[in-house]
Amino acid sequence: MKLLVKNIGTLVGIDESGRLRVCGSDMANIATLEGAWLLAEEGRICDYGTMGNLPSEEGCEVLDAEGGWLFPSFCDSHTHIVYAGSREQEFLDKINGLSYEEIAKRGGGILNSADRLHDTSEEELYRQAMERIDEIIAMGTGLVEIKSGYGLTLEDELKILRVIKRIRENSPIAVRATFLGAHAVGRAYKGRQSDYVDHVCRDMIPAVAKEGLADFVDVFCDKGFFTVEETAKIMKVGAEYGLRAKIHANELAVSGGVEVGVEHNALSVDHLESMGDEQIEALRGTNTMPTMLPGCAFFLGITYPPARKMINAGLAVALASDFNPGTAPSGNMRFVVSLASIKMKMTPAEALNAATLNSAAAMGESKDYGSITRGKVANFYITKPLPSLAYLPYAHQTPVIKNIVLKGKLYE
Ligand code: NIG
Ligand code: FE
Repeated sequence: MKLLVKNIGTLVGIDESGRLRVCGSDMANIATLEGAWLLAEEGRICDYGTMGNLPSEEGCEVLDAEGGWLFPSFCDSHTHIVYAGSREQEFLDKINGLSYEEIAKRGGGILNSADRLHDTSEEELYRQAMERIDEIIAMGTGLVEIKSGYGLTLEDELKILRVIKRIRENSPIAVRATFLGAHAVGRAYKGRQSDYVDHVCRDMIPAVAKEGLADFVDVFCDKGFFTVEETAKIMKVGAEYGLRAKIHANELAVSGGVEVGVEHNALSVDHLESMGDEQIEALRGTNTMPTMLPGCAFFLGITYPPARKMINAGLAVALASDFNPGTAPSGNMRFVVSLASIKMKMTPAEALNAATLNSAAAMGESKDYGSITRGKVANFYITKPLPSLAYLPYAHQTPVIKNIVLKGKLYE
């Protein structure tokens, strides 16, 4: 089946170089083509050009963009979309002055979600998660990573990962799965953190790998959660089972998570609200993608990551939503891009590059996703006509998306 999109006002996010990430000052450039068409065939981008050379419409489903803009779908490389219910009581606790760490210490936070997940059937978890998947698709996401980490027992970690697997099999967007057994210490191991880490390494990782339930392994390496040594141990065992690391690092403190992630060739280190110059330096010249989650800083009212410093140091940076019930209850990548511009002074082009190509790279998927490139998966959205690129993050709540195309098919 062929899909021909014609009368595109501006085609955004073209890349003909085949690069797998965009770094430093190059992030400020995003290639565009005005007055364009795009042809998708067999789920991939087949060709594009200007309206003067519009190919024959014969045998194609034709979509008239009517002057609207076409953008590559957002890639969201960090989410916790599978969770039971919601946690607005903690939201109220925060309003009344408690910090995220204080709530966690009282047994709330991640453990609260683990209790709820335990009491919820796989079927119901799947139903709730699919509602969130529909929500993010409507907001322009075409590739998403989903973490476990609300199980915290062998059985419940397998349960959440099986739900992720089912989403992967049934959802129109592409899904990658991450095992995050070391998100918090499970209740049964209270006061025995190192035994819990052993359990993660000895029992959970092999079981997860045996069922082929995860692509990546993650650890919450931060103050009050897991140490650098524990993180290193888990990454090492993960690597033995073919799971590359994506690490939660430096959300609550300069945790050493960035350095240990780099040392173990992590695919990404995520959060980075607490970053010094040494951590930026540690990332230079590595393959580890620093990933920022400004929806979390917004929700918790904490410092935003130093995006400008990182880009000025020549690093590639990625953006993701962190969609989860405790620190970022939204998967709206367009809002993430707006926050990146408003709060971290990233230009709209930098923020879009970070939320597409570089976020795809943070899942090891930029060969197939994240830009308008011949041969890549045809995942994109079409907006109403826009006055400029900057309008997208500027008018951050105005609904502009008119059509969504996933794997070359119009999504309705
Ligand atoms: O990325 N920081 C650790 N994990 C999540 C929050 C999880 C939760 O509070 O439920 C995050 O912010
Ligand atoms: Fe997270």
